[in-house]
Amino acid sequence: MDHKRRTFLGIGLAGLGALAAAAVGWPLFRYLAPRSSREAAGKVVVPEGDIPEGGARFFEYAGSSAVLVRKRDGGLVALSAVCTHLGCIVQWQKESQDFLCPCHAGRFSTDGVVIAGPPPKPLAKIPFSVSGGNITVG
Ligand code: FES
Repeated sequence: MDHKRRTFLGIGLAGLGALAAAAVGWPLFRYLAPRSSREAAGKVVVPEGDIPEGGARFFEYAGSSAVLVRKRDGGLVALSAVCTHLGCIVQWQKESQDFLCPCHAGRFSTDGVVIAGPPPKPLAKIPFSVSGGNITVG
């Protein structure tokens, strides 16, 4: 193999090595790097008008799934959407006004209280405030 071919092969291998390092390193960097200021502040803002009476809106909160519900009496509730049994994400059942966990049929009331199935604890409540037409969660 002449010198030029070896140099070309060397550059090609170095390039592949850099690509492989980037493929491994980028996800690691994203995992370890600080989150954006909006996420770091730990707050999520949802316009009040986004949640109709008897409806729910799911969103991402603190790296997990959460839900806001407007009860039929107009009251608001913010809960973790993670089932306390084995961690599946619950679903809002508008007709029955409760949450169903699709994994083992756990059911929770609008306030997150266990009403059926294997979940050992209620859905965790999340603090929120309402101001100027916005709901601020966290
Ligand atoms: S994970 Fe929800 S009922 Fe089992």
